[in-house]
Amino acid sequence: MTQIAGKTALITGAASGIGLAMAHSLAARGARLIIADISAERLEEAGAELRQAGADVATVAFNVAEEAEWQKAEEAAASFGHVDILCSNAGVGGGSGALEEYDPDVWRWAYAVNAHAHLYACRSFLGAMKRRGEGHVVLTASMVGIVPPPVSVAYCSSKFATVGIAMSLRNELAGTGVGISMLCPGMSATRIVQTTKDLRPGEQEAGVAAKTADAMGGVLASGMDPRCIGDRVAEAISSDEFYIFTHEEWKRLVEPQVAEMLAAFGPSADPDYAGDDIDSLLAANNATAFGAGRTAS
Ligand SMILES: NC(=O)c1ccc[n+]([C@@H]2O[C@H](COP(=O)([O-])OP(=O)(O)OC[C@H]3O[C@@H](n4cnc5c(N)ncnc54)[C@H](O)[C@@H]3O)[C@@H](O)[C@H]2O)c1
Repeated sequence: MTQIAGKTALITGAASGIGLAMAHSLAARGARLIIADISAERLEEAGAELRQAGADVATVAFNVAEEAEWQKAEEAAASFGHVDILCSNAGVGGGSGALEEYDPDVWRWAYAVNAHAHLYACRSFLGAMKRRGEGHVVLTASMVGIVPPPVSVAYCSSKFATVGIAMSLRNELAGTGVGISMLCPGMSATRIVQTTKDLRPGEQEAGVAAKTADAMGGVLASGMDPRCIGDRVAEAISSDEFYIFTHEEWKRLVEPQVAEMLAAFGPSADPDYAGDDIDSLLAANNATAFGAGRTAS
């Protein structure tokens, strides 16, 4: 995707924060927008804000974690013709607290919103993109989906799932003409802590877990301006970049983690085994993920 002007972008979680920022950045470059969010009220406010800025925008309120509800997005998209840029961005914090005390309903909810929704998004729109041989998918992961701090196993691991989905899908999209980017922000000043409280199923967190969430709210308040992330996403779509790392300081966490993993490779557990066929796997990856395998065949 080199051209954003004139294209239709569908963005989930667009009533607030990074999604709304992406909407502004894409509209400023001439995209038409379908913005989606579970909060109908804030979505309408976001729509009005975007229209005031000159955007051509439709709104569709639905829950990305419920596959059946994606039909609403498909219907909204039909009136625009089709979706060229699919930004699966809606996400929730998932809560804090020790894993062994974690509420399974909250766990399932965090995974449904942060990971399973990418599947539903692709089931709704990716097939048509592939058939047209063009389009671009953006999946919002997080730096904590690569290097997890000791905050929330549910959040970090659901973001690891997004990283896995994006990296695997990148291989699958090679040669189709459809591009893909994986957004991994660090801290950004959005309302995600409040969103998480508002949408969390069951009881609110208490004790240490509640204090951790509040502390995270404080940290995020002084995080990066989401508008800079939105601009970076638009740039990455235009130049067809896979990795979108917005916070360069996180490299200092990635480096020791990768170094530790590499150092952990010892000799084969089976000295008599010839080894997996890494040359073929490397060739496959070079033809897809690491190469310029984007062109429709
Ligand atoms: N803020 C950060 O520091 C940060 C860092 C890394 C990654 N992220 C990711 O960025 C994405 C956007 O989050 P944000 O920080 O802008 O938060 P935000 O709360 O400001 O915006 C997220 C939006 O998603 C919507 N949403 C939540 N659950 C939904 C559902 N089931 N269906 C439809 N909409 C739903 C919310 O209503 C909200 O408007 C998330 O995936 C988040 O995990 C955020």
